[in-house]
Amino acid sequence: MERWDEAEGQEPPGTTAAREARQYGDVAAVYDTLMEGVPHGAWLSRIEKAVRERGKAPRSVLDVACGTGIATLLLARRGYSPVIGVDLSADMIRIARTKATAASRLSERTVQFEVQNAATLDLDGATFDLVISLFDSLNYILDPRDLQSAFCRVFAHTAAGGMFAFDLNSLYALAHDLFTQTNLFGPVQHVWSANWDREARLCRVEMAFAIEDAQTGALRRFTETHLQRAYTVPEITEWLAVAGFANIECFGNYGTRPPGPRSDRLLFVCEKS
Ligand SMILES: C[S@@+](CC[C@H](N)C(=O)[O-])C[C@H]1O[C@@H](n2cnc3c(N)ncnc32)[C@H](O)[C@@H]1O
Repeated sequence: MERWDEAEGQEPPGTTAAREARQYGDVAAVYDTLMEGVPHGAWLSRIEKAVRERGKAPRSVLDVACGTGIATLLLARRGYSPVIGVDLSADMIRIARTKATAASRLSERTVQFEVQNAATLDLDGATFDLVISLFDSLNYILDPRDLQSAFCRVFAHTAAGGMFAFDLNSLYALAHDLFTQTNLFGPVQHVWSANWDREARLCRVEMAFAIEDAQTGALRRFTETHLQRAYTVPEITEWLAVAGFANIECFGNYGTRPPGPRSDRLLFVCEKS
């Protein structure tokens, strides 16, 4: 398996759009603070319920677009092994590895992190009982062909009888300014301004951050531009089926019912029979 972050001058193929977008670089250092209050644990429990309902008992898990490894490390603590997290951003993976090293009960064999593009995922033929991708990571794949390719690569890395569960921001959420937010208090202050391109189904978010230095109180400022694309339930369902997945279900907002017209978050669950 090639380690893109360690091969000087190389980067995963298909990163052009992400690079132009300037995302998950500086923000990596404050990502976990921004995530306080995001219910990764509850989302994993909902996925575990879906897994049980299908009579599965997964051991190994792959977390695609794992970010700083919040869900990956939770899974390792819940006893899954091995657990591997992959992400396009070397900065996010660096933080994830630091956290894994600090978590003394986790051995290197239990949890690992790699820099990888989901669209070209290649883990040397390894397969997993469960593959997850949380918190609208796959909306960051802007070219539909890359998302279809990501589904094929995930299928190739799913064990026979294994499952794939992931969430997406719905078209409704991206079209309704979900990302326009201001927080001018605390150590991580931010002003985010979202712009929705209905034609291209692209949500462009200009993000300005000011991070307070704990010692001096001085503010360090930086900006990032994030781009997400909205996909519809029929599109995703078709592409999952083309990739080979079966028993495809979609739920609104991590609930137990199909999404309604105003569901923000879509949970997809499917399996490799
Ligand atoms: C909102 S964060 C979610 C991170 C993590 N899944 C979580 O739940 O906290 C989105 C992540 O998707 C990653 N990402 C975006 N495009 C990707 C791609 N093509 N392949 C792998 N990771 C990608 C970003 O680097 C970022 O870490």
